[in-house]
Amino acid sequence: MRSWSQALLCWYAAHRRDLPWRGHPDPYAVWVSEIMLQQTRVTAARPYFERFLRRFPTVDTLAAAPVADVLKHWEGLGYYSRARNLQTAAREIVARHSSRIPASAAALAQLPGIGPYTAAAIASICFHEPVPVVDGNVARVFSRYLGWTDDFRKLPARRKLAVWLQPHIMAVACPGDFNQAMMELGALACLPHTPLCDQCPLATACHAHCTGTQEKFPVRPAHKSVPTRHACAVVIRRRGRLLLVQRREQGLLGGFWELPGGETKRKPDARTAATAVKSQTGLIVSDLSANGMIEHVFSHFRLQLVLFAAGGSAGRLRANARARWVHAAALVHLLFSTAHRRALQLCIAATRKPRQ
Ligand code: ADE
Repeated sequence: MRSWSQALLCWYAAHRRDLPWRGHPDPYAVWVSEIMLQQTRVTAARPYFERFLRRFPTVDTLAAAPVADVLKHWEGLGYYSRARNLQTAAREIVARHSSRIPASAAALAQLPGIGPYTAAAIASICFHEPVPVVDGNVARVFSRYLGWTDDFRKLPARRKLAVWLQPHIMAVACPGDFNQAMMELGALACLPHTPLCDQCPLATACHAHCTGTQEKFPVRPAHKSVPTRHACAVVIRRRGRLLLVQRREQGLLGGFWELPGGETKRKPDARTAATAVKSQTGLIVSDLSANGMIEHVFSHFRLQLVLFAAGGSAGRLRANARARWVHAAALVHLLFSTAHRRALQLCIAATRKPRQ
């Protein structure tokens, strides 16, 4: 009888997506793809991957690039520490490994931004090392298959599954395909909601399928709700230019550009927004009108960004304000978070609306 791993590999051979990093001969490309895929779906990561590799085709080009350029090529993907770590690791690889990607999971895991699952993915795909990947997709597939009720967001449960998978990956000829097959099954068939069990090669022996309990796995202990944080953003124009401020280099979204305003203790009104702009830039803004709201979910909080348009502004920018008047044409060259990029799009669309 066929083992489950053989059934899985046959399914993968027939159903694997044709992705630009699959079968790529360069471990650097696989590494970049795995970092992008850490918190991002394949379909969203794909265009970023292609653009990133065109601009930074080798570990040396990535190591030598200005960090702002690297972040610009990551803009919109989120979790920007991934891009910063990628470049720090590239510099380490150039300096300490003669520009060659380390060839074992243990050595890869020493680099910034590479945890056990990414190290296992790269080492198995590029260097055929039999180390199992346990990411969210794999945890879902096997919690259902085995009927395990562990909390797979925790390391001990992931380790337990890695130990269970170890003899199975040792028995196959191509550990990289084995790992990608497990991840692919989670992405294409063993979906979080309404899994497509009729397409799954493991269904006949799957605990959850056989007991009709797919939705119960993986077991999720009630998770804490994320707190909501408030902020305001004010559109201030002068002579065809827009005022922007730059965040400090340290901390979340360091170095990114934003509309002036910033975080507020509670949902901001026009007065709070005007005060925030004054303390941030020195400008006195007047006639603020509400212009919509944008909600963006970060990993550990939800941001509600209330937009205002200023009817007028007076005074000069404070000398030490990290602020600049920018022409619309120059916006594409600056780095924005997704929330502020959406805020800009909204305010530009609003000013284009024909008057009623
Ligand atoms: N998720 C992370 N890495 C992946 C890969 N190589 N294939 C499919 N899904 C993935």
